[in-house]
Amino acid sequence: MLENNPVLDAIRSRRSIRKYTGEPIAEPVRRAILEAGFYAPSAMNRRPFHFVSITDRELMQKLSDLHPYAKMLPQADWAIIVCGDESVSGPFYMDDCAAATQNILLAAHSLGVGAVWCGVDHTERQQPFGELLGLPEHIKAYSLIVLGMPAEEKETLDRVEPDKIHENRW
Ligand SMILES: Cc1cc2nc3c(=O)[nH]c(=O)nc-3n(C[C@H](O)[C@H](O)[C@H](O)COP(=O)(O)O)c2cc1C
Repeated sequence: MLENNPVLDAIRSRRSIRKYTGEPIAEPVRRAILEAGFYAPSAMNRRPFHFVSITDRELMQKLSDLHPYAKMLPQADWAIIVCGDESVSGPFYMDDCAAATQNILLAAHSLGVGAVWCGVDHTERQQPFGELLGLPEHIKAYSLIVLGMPAEEKETLDRVEPDKIHENRW
C-alpha cells in the first residue's frame, strides 16, 4: 500500500512545469483536469469555486502582460483561472480555491500534463484580472493555472523536513 501508491507518488513527484511543447492537450484530458477542481474539500461544503477556462491566445497574452511571474503563459496551451464566490463563503473562498488549485495540479500531473500555479489572490493583479475576465464583484480570481504538454522534466525532491514535525506540542 505504501509502495507504488499512485496518489502518494503523484503528490511527491509533482513539480511546477513552465516549458511546453506546444502540442495540444486532448479535450477529454482537459475535461478530467478541470473537473478535478470540483472534488476539493470546501468549508461547510459550500463549493464556492468557479473555473474560467482560457484558450483565447489574445486573452492569454493580456493576462501574461498583467502578471509579472506568468511570462510562460503565451507559450502554454491552456490556462484555468480558479475563482471563488466570496458571497457564499466569505474569506474561506481562498482556502477552498487553494484546495481546488492543488487538485487540478495533481490531476494534470497524473495525466502527463505540465502545470504551474501562479498567484493572483493577495496581489495587485486580482482586480485587473477580474475586469479583464468580466467577473462580477463577488467573484474573486484566486489563481492562474498555466498548462501545457511538458517540455521539461524535473526531479522528485526529498522535501520532508523532520525538524518541522512536532509531536503534540511545539
Ligand atoms: C500561492 C502560490 C503562488 C505561486 N505563484 C507563482 C507565480 O506567480 N509564478 C510561477 O512561476 N510560479 C508560482 N508558484 C509556483 C512556485 O514557485 C512553486 O510551487 C515552488 O517554487 C516549488 O516548486 P514546485 O512546484 O516545482 O514543487 C506559486 C505557488 C504558489 C503555491
